[in-house]
Order: sequence, then structure tokens, then C-alpha cells
Amino acid sequence: MAVKELTFILVVCSSIVCTSGVEFFTSTDKISQLFNEEDFLLKTFSLYIDAEEENIKLMKRLLLLLQLGSYLDPVDPEKIKDPVAAYKLLRRVRAEWINIVDYTQLSLYQLYQTVLTYAQIPQLEDLDGAASGLIRLQEIYKLYPHNITKEMALNADEAYHVGLVAYNEDKFQHAFLWFLYSLDRLTQYSVTTKQQLLRHLSLSSYQFGNLPMAIYFGQQLLNLDPTNDDIKVLLDLYRRLRFQRTSNPDILRLSNESSKYETLCRGEVDERTSKRQRALSCRYSTGGGNPRLMYSPVKEEVEWDEPRIIRYHDIISDREIEILKNISRPLLSRSLTTAGVSKYRTSQGVFLEEDNIVVARISQRIADITGLSKESAENLFVQNYGIGGRYEPHYDELDNENGRIATFLIYMSDVEIGGATVFPEVGVELKPKKGSAVFWYNLHKNGSVDLNTKHAGCPVLRGNKWVANKWIHVFGQEFRRPCSLSNWE
Ligand SMILES: *[C@@H]1O[C@H](CO)[C@@H](O)[C@H](O)[C@H]1NC(C)=O
Ligand SMILES: *[C@@H]1O[C@H](CO)[C@@H](O)[C@H](O)[C@H]1NC(C)=O
Ligand SMILES: *[C@@H]1O[C@H](CO)[C@@H](O)[C@H](O)[C@H]1NC(C)=O
Ligand SMILES: *[C@@H]1O[C@H](CO)[C@@H](O)[C@H](O)[C@H]1NC(C)=O
Repeated sequence: MAVKELTFILVVCSSIVCTSGVEFFTSTDKISQLFNEEDFLLKTFSLYIDAEEENIKLMKRLLLLLQLGSYLDPVDPEKIKDPVAAYKLLRRVRAEWINIVDYTQLSLYQLYQTVLTYAQIPQLEDLDGAASGLIRLQEIYKLYPHNITKEMALNADEAYHVGLVAYNEDKFQHAFLWFLYSLDRLTQYSVTTKQQLLRHLSLSSYQFGNLPMAIYFGQQLLNLDPTNDDIKVLLDLYRRLRFQRTSNPDILRLSNESSKYETLCRGEVDERTSKRQRALSCRYSTGGGNPRLMYSPVKEEVEWDEPRIIRYHDIISDREIEILKNISRPLLSRSLTTAGVSKYRTSQGVFLEEDNIVVARISQRIADITGLSKESAENLFVQNYGIGGRYEPHYDELDNENGRIATFLIYMSDVEIGGATVFPEVGVELKPKKGSAVFWYNLHKNGSVDLNTKHAGCPVLRGNKWVANKWIHVFGQEFRRPCSLSNWE
């Protein structure tokens, strides 16, 4: 029976598109699909075991029959000269052999292997990418392992893996803190050993420049494992270096250096608390008298003056958002930068064609609100972010004649913590608010890039971030920008 079910799964799976090699960590939406994946793996494994058990029962019965046959009808080796006796023996051995081969062939195992090729098992890169996402969150939001695991703890093996990923990324302080966390959680069930952890604590302390700590953990390891020649050599080295090096940073306290981008992401600076903010306004707009907006003006708020950043509230409904997500979900793939796949941009996205009525309606709405022509705009780009998902500081402007004159960024979800859009050059932080959008010009009126529009998407600390981007290009705006949008530079 189990064989039939396993075969059925195979047929179903091969008739629908079950692609493997999916990337998970760059999209929280994809990660949630892993719940189904795990279910599939558990179910098929259990079916496979049942099928093997049924088969073993069959084989045992066969064995009994064969033993019985040779017992009831023995062939006397002396009588083999007798052609009839010889014939009987030949026939029986052949029949036995055929039966046994039938029941022991690889077909079950192969069936299971084929079913497994349809499972979307995360790659090693996925796992490392997810750990890397955790480390990036720590860096940007200045978190300790215990802060980040407050809601859900990691076990010693998991923490050791995160530490190793940090170590390989030369983030020795973060690696150290994860090894320490792992050591604290070591149990008899851990695969990770105390020796491994002490060695890595020593190595990362050394790499970070804290020699006393490197010697301390090295000595601990030596006490535990006095025959470890490797650590003896390292200890010798550390003791000699100790008198040459003066740096002795505190590896236990997270370092204070961070870029403007990072401090903005943490919400530590926001220039808008100054009196400048009070001059900024909030009003209803009809897109300069656009008939489509006359009776339902959009609520417009000036978030910043130079560059001018406008927030439009409630420009997309929850239902439209759900439809956009539903169309995008199966099509998402890793977002690229001009340099291709990059660790500086960890999200998945898709450009949506306007043959869908909702996508077309939203494009029209953007054109109405901004007063800009949609003719040279790119298709709407829907994105979902992953673990620590972010886009590090960049300009939207592509270096060409028909550049991205303006950006319209729609927030399709609230984000519990993190995920803000920040402008480090001017010190502005825009929080995602579901249903709202922000808009700015990337180019000055004279066509040069506005250097203040450099911006970044902060890592998502908690929540699921969905956005949609519309990049509007230069061509087709010749008569629009100056008249429809007053004195903006
Ligand atoms: C992380 O933990 C440290 C030490 O316990 C605490 O001072 C800090 O406020 C925590 N940070 C966050 C963001 O929870
Ligand atoms: C850490 O950063 C804060 C804010 O940027 C600053 O006020 C403080 O002096 C810094 N501390 C050290 C030890 O550098
Ligand atoms: C989106 O997809 C979900 C799940 O398939 C479905 O339940 C929901 O009705 C869809 N929403 C819309 C607006 O089409
Ligand atoms: C274009 O205009 C901006 C803002 O007015 C100005 O800073 C920049 O120097 C101008 N660039 C050129 C090439 O004229």
C-alpha cells in the first residue's frame, strides 16, 4: 500500500512544477513554505519506511517457503547422476534466484530517491546565508546573541554554526560571542565539543586582538586536552606576541563604530526632530488637478525638503496588496544589483507585467499622483525581504541617458521592527507603513544625480517586508516635470 502512495506522490509531483534549487533565506515568504516542505519530507520518509517493512515481511515469507521446499524435497548429492534429479535441482535454484531478486531489487529505494528529488531542500548556501543574516542584524542593531534569541533560543550546535559563519566572514567579535553562547548551552546531546569551542574562542580572541583572552581559552583547552600539540604551538605564539601588541580591545562589549546608515537604522539619529520638521506639511493633493484624483484626493505628507520626499497615504488597498502578493509569490527570484547577485541586496523580487488589471491600475495611479508619464517607466517591481533582508546604501539612478528620474516606493506591509528606508546623506528614516508610498526625484532638474538621494533598506529585524517599486525614467517627462510639480529642484 505504501508503495502505491509513494508512486502516487511521484506522479503528482512530476506533473506540477516542482523545481529544486530554490533559494530560501532571501525571502521570508519562501521560508514559510518550508513548513510544507518539512511536512512532505516527514510524510514521504514514513511511507518509504512502511513500504520497506511490507517488503521485508514478504521476503521473510519467501524465505520460509524456499526453506520449506528444500526440506520437503531434498536432493541427494549422490543421486545427481540421475538426470531427473538434476533437472529438479536446476529448476528449483533458478526459481529461487528469480524470486529473491524480484524482492530485493533497488526499486523501492530508487522510487524514494526520485520522490526526494522533488523536495525543495535548502542548500548549504541557504543555511549559511540565514546565519549571515542573523549576524548582519546583530551588527546593525548592536545585538548580543542573548538579545536576538530572547524569544527563541538556539542550541549549542546551532550557535556554533552561526559563530563559524561569522568567523569565516572575518567578524571575529560576533563569532566570539556566538561561541561563548554555544559553550553556555553545551549539553551531553550536543554534537559540538567543548574542545572545538575553546579552540575557536581562543582563535577569535586572537584575531580580534585580545591576546589575554586568547591565552586564557587556549590554556583551558590545554588543561582539557594536554596532548593537543596544535594549541601548544598557538599558545607559544600568543605568549610571545603578548609583549609586542599593545591593542587590547574589549571583545565582550560590542564595538561602537558604525556608519551613519547603521545609526539611522537603529533610529538613533533623525534630523527631523529639529525645527526643520515643523516647516514640513501635510495636505490633500489632486495631482495638480488630475480629473481622476479630483474626487478622491490623495493624502500627501512632506517627509523631507531637500531632496523633497513625499509620503502618500492609503494609495493602495489591502485587497490590491493581497492580489499583488498572490501574483508575485510563485515568481519571486533573488533581486540583483548592477553587479548581479550580491550580499548587499538580500531580497527576492519580480517585475510584474501590466496585462494584469490590478498592476495596470496601480501604474496609472502612480502616473496620476506624480504627474509623470508612465511610458518610459519600468514594470512594477514587487519585493519580499529575507532573514536580515536589506539593501545597503545605493543610488537608484542607472548611469545612462534615460536614467531613473524618480522612485515611487510602495510599502505593502508594516514591519514590526526594522526595515526602514534611510537616507544617510541627509539623515532621514522612513518607516514602512502598509498602504503608503514614498516618492522622490533621483535627478536634479538639470539632469545630474542628486547625491542626497543615496538610500538603503535597513535589515528586517522582526516581521515580513513587502514593497513595490516603480522606477520612472527621463524620457517622456520633458513637459511634465516642470509644470505639474512646482518649484522642486
Ligand atoms: C541587549 O542586552 C544588553 C545586556 O543585557 C542590554 O543592555 C541591551 O539593552 C539589550 N539590547 C536590546 C536591543 O534589547
Ligand atoms: C559610542 O557612540 C556614542 C554615540 O555615537 C557616543 O556618544 C559615545 O561616545 C561612543 N562611545 C565610545 C566609547 O566610543
Ligand atoms: C490569495 O491567495 C490566497 C491563497 O491561495 C487565497 O486564499 C486568497 O483568496 C487570494 N486573495 C486574492 C485577493 O486573490
Ligand atoms: C545641477 O543642479 C544642482 C542643484 O541645483 C547643482 O548642485 C549641480 O551643480 C548642477 N549640475 C550641473 C552639471 O549644472
